[in-house]
Amino acid sequence: MIEQIQEFKQAYSKSLISVSNPDQLNQLRTEFLGKKGHLPKMMKQLRELSPEEKRLAGKQVNEFKTEIENSLKEKLQEIESRPGSSTGESDFDITLPGRGDRSGTLHPITQVMDEIISVFFSLGFSVEEGPEIETDFYNFEALNIPKDHPARDMQDTFYVEDETVLRTHTSPVQIHVMEDWEPPLRIIAPGKVYRCDSDISHTPMFHQIEGLMVDEDISFGHLKGIMDIFVHEIFGKKTELRFRPSFFPFTCPSAEVDIQCVICSGKGCRVCSSTGWLEILGAGLVDPAVFQAVNYDPGKWTGLAFGLGIERIAMLKFGINDIRLFFDNDLRFLKQF
Ligand code: PHE
Repeated sequence: MIEQIQEFKQAYSKSLISVSNPDQLNQLRTEFLGKKGHLPKMMKQLRELSPEEKRLAGKQVNEFKTEIENSLKEKLQEIESRPGSSTGESDFDITLPGRGDRSGTLHPITQVMDEIISVFFSLGFSVEEGPEIETDFYNFEALNIPKDHPARDMQDTFYVEDETVLRTHTSPVQIHVMEDWEPPLRIIAPGKVYRCDSDISHTPMFHQIEGLMVDEDISFGHLKGIMDIFVHEIFGKKTELRFRPSFFPFTCPSAEVDIQCVICSGKGCRVCSSTGWLEILGAGLVDPAVFQAVNYDPGKWTGLAFGLGIERIAMLKFGINDIRLFFDNDLRFLKQF
């Protein structure tokens, strides 16, 4: 009998620990103290014992009963005072399972930037960076952009001070690199640029990737070859491209590169204004005036340069029609990438 009591005591303590709500507590009470519970049963069994044993075991059963009653009372108080219990002070239920981790993804601009970088990396270009706050010299003067050029207008450029601007393109990195290095060189420079402009296809901050290659005997053929590889890697092997004559003060000759419209495959639609073509970047051969500004011998060195807008490439790749979506940070938009 004494052994049996010990076993029940152990079983009871174990069960009590795992009790976490009033229902479970009542079940435990019934199991031990209920009419058909373990304790009443033991009381009945006491009758069959000798008087000596009855006295000893009876005392233990009684003590066990008081112990159960007290501990049940204590446990109930504990449950009720827990935050989240219906009688407790807060509705916070700490027994609910956690929400779990949701991992984020790279921003679509970062994804496209990484993809473009890896194409040029495989062609032997290294990645360089330059400051976002530039002097007039690096952003304009050294790039052969004359004082009366409209790009210098306050309406297009954010001026920090008279001679200091937020860079309007990544081209000033060309100058920094050529000042620091001797040719031959091959670099790309990704980064943020700023222009005082905001509508469905312009944001005051956007991203560009600049490319510069300087060596002996660089020709327009090199530029065409590199642009071919770039377009085919990013938009697919079947995408056609064309070079259209253009003008930039820091390249000569200059061109803009168009790709066959990714929406209508060249048939003509609203996105390409019925032309079948979409402009994706500016490029050209480095103007000798730029070489002079960095003390490179224009008689010896030749170069090619290009600059592209990452948002524009991303919009065409993913079929996004409003550039501002990239910067609204709406998770419903960002989660799609
Ligand atoms: N910097 C020019 C722009 O922002 C792009 C460009 C870069 C053109 C290099 C030619 C060569 O529009």
